Amino acid sequence: MLEKGARVVVDVGPVAHGGHCVARHEGQVLFVRHALPGERVEAVVTEVGRKGRWVRADAVSVVQASADRVVPPCPHAGPGRCGGCDWQHASLPGQRALKAAVLREQLARLGGVDEIDGVPLEDAVKVDAVPGDRDGLAWRTRVRYAVDASGRAGFHRHRSHAVEPVEHCLLVTDDVQGTGTTLQQWQGADAVSAVASSGGDRAVVVDPASLASTLPREINVPGLRGRGWVREQAAGRDWRVRADGFWQVHPGAAGTLVAAVRDALDPQPGETLLDLYCGVGLFAGALAPLLDGARVDAVEFGIAACADARRNLHDLPEVRIHADDVARWLRRPDAPDSADLVVLDPPRSGAGADVMDAVLDRAPRAIAYVACDPAALGRDVGHARAAGWRLASVRGFDLFPMTHHLEAVALLVPG
Ligand SMILES: C[S@@+](CC[C@H](N)C(=O)[O-])C[C@H]1O[C@@H](n2cnc3c(N)ncnc32)[C@H](O)[C@@H]1O
Repeated sequence: MLEKGARVVVDVGPVAHGGHCVARHEGQVLFVRHALPGERVEAVVTEVGRKGRWVRADAVSVVQASADRVVPPCPHAGPGRCGGCDWQHASLPGQRALKAAVLREQLARLGGVDEIDGVPLEDAVKVDAVPGDRDGLAWRTRVRYAVDASGRAGFHRHRSHAVEPVEHCLLVTDDVQGTGTTLQQWQGADAVSAVASSGGDRAVVVDPASLASTLPREINVPGLRGRGWVREQAAGRDWRVRADGFWQVHPGAAGTLVAAVRDALDPQPGETLLDLYCGVGLFAGALAPLLDGARVDAVEFGIAACADARRNLHDLPEVRIHADDVARWLRRPDAPDSADLVVLDPPRSGAGADVMDAVLDRAPRAIAYVACDPAALGRDVGHARAAGWRLASVRGFDLFPMTHHLEAVALLVPG
């Protein structure tokens, strides 16, 4: 049995969800970071799982490299270093192939899907770059830095509370870097966020968990606006978003997802829409003008996000914003008992069985499921399929290059 700290040479097998690959050694499963499928690596065990059946390990040297291996562009990437990125050592096409493999595997294993409209998953499911991508770098318009004991900003090391100070993260946009956040001392804060929006605003916000400290929550960085919200532009509209609220991070993301949802649903005049987990109203605002005044209900439990959504969509009186938990709102007697179209954009945990059942009971013509976690998507698709629904399409998008994260837009229709 491998113990923590053991070194072993292994042949690396397939990629798994979470930014690592699977290898085996004398009956034990290894989840190996910093490796690629098909490689032979020397790995050091970093953590031993329950009863020693599995271990986590870092590849510390490569005996036989994959054709997809590249030198990581960031000096902070590597075993024991910054935990923000998972795939700096893979080419961008290689990263997208890994993400597509994970998306297929989760749909197959958790969703029971083996083909889509007669096309094998291998051909039906891809992960594409988004427009405006710059070699997978300089895409983070919003970043949350952890702060170390001496006040330096950086990122947590993988599965650790320790902070790797990082003066210039290659993933942040030039405008975020230009806020100078990493050049300041943040002693007393746990975390600090920097935002540079598509509307030209900048904000630096100290994490609410740090409120007990003497630091003001919204920092007035010289030359920057210190207010707590920023303007974004997407889908031909302007949006107001709290600096610490939810907005897609990659500059190409909001437009790409709106187009994918619109293409999947093909909204028709007169059709009604539910936008569940609506945030500041992105999908409701983009789709309502296509529905010719038909009723749109948008649900979000964040009070501040709902206030932004009301302001953002004030010109669309057919959109009703409900500040509520999605599951609870769907059970309300005054919630509509049918809808033609549904957008589901849940957090990483997914919609879950109760929400899926309540949505399917409303017998929509089509559901666009926007997923940031392929496992949650797999589970919810499996639930819908068991209820007689069909997965009609899935598109993957590389909204988070260099990390293991991906976004997918799935179309569910009655079977
Ligand atoms: C992935 S974001 C999507 C936001 C929006 N659709 C967008 O694209 O900008 C998920 C949103 O769901 C909200 N949320 C999470 N769990 C919720 C729940 N149980 N009920 C209502 N809203 C929830 C979060 O506050 C967040 O705004």
